[in-house]
Amino acid sequence: MCGIVGYTGPHNAITPLIEGLRRLEYRGYDSAGIALGTPNKLFIEKRAGKLNNLEQSLSSIPTARSGIGHTRWATHGGPTDSNAHPHVDNDGKLAVIHNGIIENYAELKAVLESKGHTFSSDTDTESVAHLLSDLRKKHGGDLSAAMREAVKSLRGSFTLVAIHADTPDVIVGVRRNSPLVVGLGKNENFMASDVAAFIEHTKRAIELGQDQVVTLTPTTVSITDLDGKTVTPKEYEITWDASAAQKGGFAHFMLKEIFEQPKAVADTLIARLSDNKQIVLDEIALTAAEIKSLEKIVVIACGTAYHAGMIAKYAIEKWAKISVEVEIASEYRYRDPIINKNTLVIAISQSGETMDTLMALRHAKAAGARILAICNTNSSTIPRESDAVIYTHAGPEIAVASTKALLTQIVAVYLIGLHLAQVRSQLTDDQVADLYNEMLELPGKIEQILETVEPLRALTRKFADANTILFLGRNIGYPVALEGALKLKELAYIHAEGFAGGELKHGPIALIDSVSATPVIAILPAGHEHSLDEKMASNIQEVKARGARVIVIAEEGANVVGAEYVIRIPVTNPLFQPILATVPLQVFAYEIAVARGSDVDQPRNLAKSVTVE
Ligand code: F6R
Repeated sequence: MCGIVGYTGPHNAITPLIEGLRRLEYRGYDSAGIALGTPNKLFIEKRAGKLNNLEQSLSSIPTARSGIGHTRWATHGGPTDSNAHPHVDNDGKLAVIHNGIIENYAELKAVLESKGHTFSSDTDTESVAHLLSDLRKKHGGDLSAAMREAVKSLRGSFTLVAIHADTPDVIVGVRRNSPLVVGLGKNENFMASDVAAFIEHTKRAIELGQDQVVTLTPTTVSITDLDGKTVTPKEYEITWDASAAQKGGFAHFMLKEIFEQPKAVADTLIARLSDNKQIVLDEIALTAAEIKSLEKIVVIACGTAYHAGMIAKYAIEKWAKISVEVEIASEYRYRDPIINKNTLVIAISQSGETMDTLMALRHAKAAGARILAICNTNSSTIPRESDAVIYTHAGPEIAVASTKALLTQIVAVYLIGLHLAQVRSQLTDDQVADLYNEMLELPGKIEQILETVEPLRALTRKFADANTILFLGRNIGYPVALEGALKLKELAYIHAEGFAGGELKHGPIALIDSVSATPVIAILPAGHEHSLDEKMASNIQEVKARGARVIVIAEEGANVVGAEYVIRIPVTNPLFQPILATVPLQVFAYEIAVARGSDVDQPRNLAKSVTVE
């Protein structure tokens, strides 16, 4: 939520700032702004709307060697020019950008107004600009000292980056519960919400800890805690390259990321079975004795990642015979969860910064649980605060709607399930090896679905005018139905709901409208266990009899009756079906969104990394 970038170095700052903001636009895109550090005076420009609006308004840009830039997802104050960041003090010499929420901004504002400061926006951020301005004067012009003192009086979650016209090549940043990384260049330095902003310039990065203040000049990086004590930086190498954050010939990042799924799944699966048929998952950091004494697993996650958690329940309970509870992270910490040292909490998050998941994680940790993160973003907050982490290898996911990250999260939960099952002797080594080897076939099977995607795209466009689309699944197909509906809602802004097939008759079937022939997409369960496929076949008949147009996603060779269209997916183990069945639903949502003229990569009202509660 909100993208932040800062640059100081020998080049004209406008270029790395705009480039960086372009890469961070997925984090928020309702307004954008920059402050350039020219001597004695800041050049500030900010505009409501997307980054393009800002770029078009930049006619006479002064040459500046440093600056800060921001792309916003509004929390306090609507998306207007005046609420866009940067915010400045009353001298117009200090500018600040912010990601997160300053919870005590109203108190701060009242105090600052009583001292004569005048405010010109409705944001929580502006109070920080005025506060920093006073504190900088108190500290004899030292912006870093001002930042350290300011942060002590702030409540909430924030990344803040500031610049002052009197020291234009100095940029000062701080983070609390919100991301900020430093990029180390040659005679130039960067800071940003995400390495994507500066990957084109350097692969050397520093992770910043909680409540640490970083001060950059072109040639120096200094990090302190809030008491001014020097902190030794932890440097790391960024392993993906700039092309991963570009569209590579695809019309949208989302389509590119859908097509990257075979590789993402393969990369996450690679080298996870030893020669003696043991799942290799050392990152889980649990001894065999600890695994054997596990009594319960609780998965916490949001949105699409929550659906990966639901899939975890089916797989882990079936294989490892451990009870799994799946919790919406934003609800979790408002309960008194029953947790002890034999509970393993799995926090799933693509970004590793989702505030709801982070807060749930802390709640579980405080209650004594052990936390395992599944995350796609190196060194982000959720893995850092967890006891252990399994990184998924999806590569950067830029489109706001999650696709390849989900598939890799599902792979990670399968690996955990197999590992736990093996250690607890619930599956034999041969069974585990067979299942793992079957998983290795999934990338090729996804590839197969994607090779025949054109007819699906054509079919999809026939449903572009629908007002409501319903999704039905049973068993492990139920979270797939929820995911199909979520994707359609967020991308195409169509009313969509996912149901467990058996629940239909308990209410939702009333939504089927014969006049508009409500489209229903049913995921036919794989295999014949519990006759689930037959039960879904009955559900198909029930909705068809009430006037629905039915599309069925079914395995090759499965008998389908009553469908207007059948989308075939390759045969696989029933528990692996979500990896395949999700793909056509992603394409379906994508194509309808394109047909309806939605902004696929940046759907309205959303942001990629949700760093507020
Ligand atoms: C939907 C989507 C969101 C995220 C959710 C959690 O397409 O992307 O529902 O899955 O906001 O985000 P992470 O995984 O970053 O914690």
